[in-house]
Amino acid sequence: PGQIQRILAHSYHLKRTAQPWLAPVQSKSGNQAKLKLRMPSQSLFSKTVALLFSKRSTRTRVSAETAASLLGGQALFLGKEDIQIGVNETVRDSARVIGGLCEGIFARVGDHSEIEELARYSPVPVLNALSSLWHPTQVLADLLTLQEHAHLFDPAAPPPPNADDLTSQRYRRLVDVRPLTVAYLGDSANVLHDMLVTYPRLGHQLRVASPENAKYRAPKEVWDRVVQLGCDKNIHWTADPRDAVKGADLVVTDTWISMGQEAEKAQRLKDFEGYQVTEKLCREGGANPDWKFMHCLPRKQDEVDDEVFYGPRSLAFPVSDNRKWTIMAMFDLLFGKWSLLERTKEA
Ligand code: CP
Ligand code: NVA
Repeated sequence: PGQIQRILAHSYHLKRTAQPWLAPVQSKSGNQAKLKLRMPSQSLFSKTVALLFSKRSTRTRVSAETAASLLGGQALFLGKEDIQIGVNETVRDSARVIGGLCEGIFARVGDHSEIEELARYSPVPVLNALSSLWHPTQVLADLLTLQEHAHLFDPAAPPPPNADDLTSQRYRRLVDVRPLTVAYLGDSANVLHDMLVTYPRLGHQLRVASPENAKYRAPKEVWDRVVQLGCDKNIHWTADPRDAVKGADLVVTDTWISMGQEAEKAQRLKDFEGYQVTEKLCREGGANPDWKFMHCLPRKQDEVDDEVFYGPRSLAFPVSDNRKWTIMAMFDLLFGKWSLLERTKEA
């Protein structure tokens, strides 16, 4: 939990310091005479991060490219049609070659084993940009958004800053959000899996609804990790979406058809019937009347209707804005500062 909080605090710090406007500074005479350009850490100066993406992406890719540029470095997008990996060259050789030419690898893969293999053979750090099992940078943005919106769950918490306030002392620190009851309705996929291993460690209760079928429940390697971290005690799993939203402060969902599962579309739409997040379902299930909504996007109407998705409960777009700052924090810590440390060690 300490490490997660540190990454969130660093993301918030970068968000505040990387604003592209000039902040007024007090001069000795008390006038706001000087203007200071706020600059984030330039830890990627002269460095390149390889974006090794074998699946589509909007948020993760755009966040990564803009974050690398704000840190003074460059992101190199390598789609699966662009390079030799998996066609003319093994993952092992590609990892060694790309890692020898770049300072970090941010990889979106199919099967999770591919990212494990990249990490095994890469001489530089590898960060997961989504795999079949996990989506860690997504959940960091979810958590940052919850902390920024702590006031929505607790009237005593300070409201979030508006753009002009971002530089003020008052918002120097990110506040904690109170322990929440969080409901997730839908498929047991990468985003939920990262929720399972983080939310309980931060004091939140999870209530998950997915159909009984084993393919819609957490796979063994995920559940083993959940148990190993002691998170299982704070997770209630049911097949009834109304049961899942009972007392929920936050309702979360994801697509029912993840990338690569398109052939199962008809079956999945049938199996998830009744799981769509709506006002009616949450009212009938007894959610907290002030419940809020989150979605990683891209979104389909199947899993959440327009009233909720575009309504005042929705935090979906603040989350997508925060993808940039959490990815930037990971790039700074993992690729920027890591290679600096390595070089200092060599010296
Ligand atoms: N949420 C998310 O990862 O979106 P993209 O697939 O567009 O990157
Ligand atoms: N579960 C979805 C998440 C997309 C960001 C997928 O893997 O396609």
